[in-house]
Amino acid sequence: MVKSNLIFRQLFDSDTSTYTYLLGCEKTKDAMIIEPVLECVARDLKLVNELGLNLIYGVNTHVHTDHTTGTGQIKKSFPNCKSVLGANSGGKADLYLNDGDKLLVGDLTVECRHTPGHTLGCFTFVLHEDRIAFTGDAVFVRGCGRTDLHHSCAKTLYHSVHSKIFSLPSDYKLYPAHDYKGMSVTTVGEEKVYNPRLTKTVDEFVQIMSNLKLDLPRRIDISYPANLMCGIQD
Ligand code: FE2
Repeated sequence: MVKSNLIFRQLFDSDTSTYTYLLGCEKTKDAMIIEPVLECVARDLKLVNELGLNLIYGVNTHVHTDHTTGTGQIKKSFPNCKSVLGANSGGKADLYLNDGDKLLVGDLTVECRHTPGHTLGCFTFVLHEDRIAFTGDAVFVRGCGRTDLHHSCAKTLYHSVHSKIFSLPSDYKLYPAHDYKGMSVTTVGEEKVYNPRLTKTVDEFVQIMSNLKLDLPRRIDISYPANLMCGIQD
């Protein structure tokens, strides 16, 4: 159940199947945005302004390959907004996260858990008071992010998910960075039973992930280098 002091919005970019999340503190109006998409920044900022929020963090769970982040563009409207990335993500940001760090957004406390595997620098963000977590590309609803691109490792992803996400209480809601089947949210308990990949043994999981034979993301040549610079290329 979402507590009353959390302002929460889930936004979707149908072009890249990316979810953007806006989290704000009802009391102070401070807010953070997770995974903003460059082409959707105008929509997102309109909502931020309508809700009277002040963005203090623009966060990416990792350096994406499938869409360009809107973080750099957002900072033009909110100059005090800090871009945030994992310390070993390889990307440029104002603030770098390490495992266990906490982001304070008004009265909200966001625990930052390092969950590498999809990439080396992936993070999951947990709000214990509201019993929700934002899993990036580590866990999708009944799926997970690919492990065949930049600094990926299926075995590492498996251990990250089991030790840092599936170890949360089973009623915690999980919000992914992407969905390709029209699903929007899941729970720890659901995924521990129904995730077709992550319920397997580690060896079976590695086997599944190495046989996916996915096409490269169509924007990888543009988005990946741009995202290393928070979406703004010099
Ligand atoms: Fe990704």
